[in-house]
Amino acid sequence: MHDDAAAGAEVAVLRLGHRPGRDERMTTHVGLTARALGADRVWIPDNAGQSRDTVADITDRFGGPFEVDLTDSPKAIIRNWEGQVVHLTMYGERVQDVEGEIRERHRDGESVLVVVGSEKVSFDVYEEAEWNVGVTNQPHSEVAGLAVFLDRLFEGEELESDWEDAEQRVVPMETGKRVISADSNDEESDS
Ligand SMILES: C[S@@+](CC[C@H](N)C(=O)[O-])C[C@H]1O[C@@H](n2cnc3c(N)ncnc32)[C@H](O)[C@@H]1O
Repeated sequence: MHDDAAAGAEVAVLRLGHRPGRDERMTTHVGLTARALGADRVWIPDNAGQSRDTVADITDRFGGPFEVDLTDSPKAIIRNWEGQVVHLTMYGERVQDVEGEIRERHRDGESVLVVVGSEKVSFDVYEEAEWNVGVTNQPHSEVAGLAVFLDRLFEGEELESDWEDAEQRVVPMETGKRVISADSNDEESDS
């Protein structure tokens, strides 16, 4: 996370698999969710260039720091990761049972790679991961699993993130929609 207490300890997300056509929105939303909820970077499959472009565009407009990259070798990223590898799966250990140890080690300086699938995930990923973690043991979505996991990892602190180099920012309001220039002091000026 940007103002991470665990300075130097990165949180990265790896999206495994992408079915062109069918997975466009899901892969994009994995990237957007990783960014919005405090991860430092996301890797997405190299056949998801459109999703990469969308996440990069949102980062340019609404700020970072956040990296989005394509990869043609996701298994190598898992294999070579220096830190904890957390694979999110409905078959895993209950997040509420393991989050404390994962969080503590991250705060002590260990980076975390969060792996989410699309279609069936091969068994070597289950074996390679240090943690197989279920956000409930019910089937749902990689976007939901990722959001809950990151929020638990950061204990909600990601909601207070400061965004750097943004072009725009949203003015929170009870009703209506207002987006202003990020360097504007006058909240009325760009509405
Ligand atoms: C639609 S699911 C596909 C799961 C697939 N049937 C399998 O056996 O791997 C896509 C991804 O969502 C995530 N996911 C789904 N349910 C989850 C849960 N209860 N907890 C954590 N992650 C979950 C996993 O990362 C999974 O790979």
